[in-house]
Amino acid sequence: MPDGHKSLQLDGIYRSIQGDLDEVEGRLREISGSSNPLIAEINRYLFQKGGKRIRPALLILSARMCGYKGADHIFWSALVEIIHTASLIHDDIVDNSTLRRGRDTVHAKWGPNISVLLGDFLYIQSIALALKTKTYPIIDLLADVTSRMVEGELIEFSVNGSLDLTEDSYLEIIGKKTAGLFAASCRIGGLLAGISPRPGERLEEFGTALGLAFQIVDDLLDFKGEEKTLGKPVLSDFREGRFTLPLLHALRTTGGKDRARLLDLIEHRKTRTDAPEQVQKIVRAAGSLDHAFERAAAFTRKAKEILAEFPPSEHRSSLVRIADLVLQRNA
Ligand code: IPE
Ligand code: IPE
Ligand code: MG
Ligand code: MG
Repeated sequence: MPDGHKSLQLDGIYRSIQGDLDEVEGRLREISGSSNPLIAEINRYLFQKGGKRIRPALLILSARMCGYKGADHIFWSALVEIIHTASLIHDDIVDNSTLRRGRDTVHAKWGPNISVLLGDFLYIQSIALALKTKTYPIIDLLADVTSRMVEGELIEFSVNGSLDLTEDSYLEIIGKKTAGLFAASCRIGGLLAGISPRPGERLEEFGTALGLAFQIVDDLLDFKGEEKTLGKPVLSDFREGRFTLPLLHALRTTGGKDRARLLDLIEHRKTRTDAPEQVQKIVRAAGSLDHAFERAAAFTRKAKEILAEFPPSEHRSSLVRIADLVLQRNA
């Protein structure tokens, strides 16, 4: 399968936990196998390598950084990846996206009906598997974060196309839809290692800051990335009425003719084929890409400040490198 959009730099950072990540892949294959041929077929398509596996990596590195020596992190990493995968299946339907990880999305290939059901299946399966472990603090966390993720998607959809969206509301949305699962992945690592509540909370705050930066950069890449590298379409957020930080900043800060042009382009975004490109120019000229980047950078700085509270180790260094890469990534 095409994996040109996968980050080689991440592979370098993952080297120290490659054995664990390979085990996660094995567990994913195991869990996603099914006696139902359709479920088995779609799951094979979904769980082939191709995603960045950043949430499993965060869980593993957090657990290891906190001194965890057991083996349960493999199962929980696989579970977090399954929840993430379910969210992507539904998200691509909601967002009208036909390309993900360089190939057709599930709904482009199997249609929306099957995709909704498969997403449901994966969500429920992950909770059912989690319950079997009877590890209630982790189950509680995962159930909570998953419902918040769906709520984030719901809020985002309900404000679609709205010019009144504030940067604070945008941050609330991405906090729920993305940063929550990042935070939970880190927190689970801490819980497995049995760290006390305060550092546990700090680990969660690290994940939140990192997740916010990750989504801001993802939204920036929609403006300035390349489809081939990203494995998903660019300039689609604007076209689909998902107004993200760069556009919100441009709306807040531009005046005069540029603002009038921007509003006109927004109004005619579905019909004017040059609209995304024109908007890109205005957003760039308004310094809005720089503004968004700076906000992401501030979150990664915060993330790294929190990491500095943990004892130095190879795993802590890897988390620092992930934070740096989140900001610099092009895929
Ligand atoms: C995509 O997540 C959804 C966002 C939060 C932007 P990833 O960028 O981690 O997706 P994969 O798993 O690597 O494809
Ligand atoms: C990420 O949102 C989806 C979830 C976190 C559930 P986006 O819609 O911004 O992500 P992409 O661009 O489709 O990967
Ligand atoms: Mg979305
Ligand atoms: Mg999407």
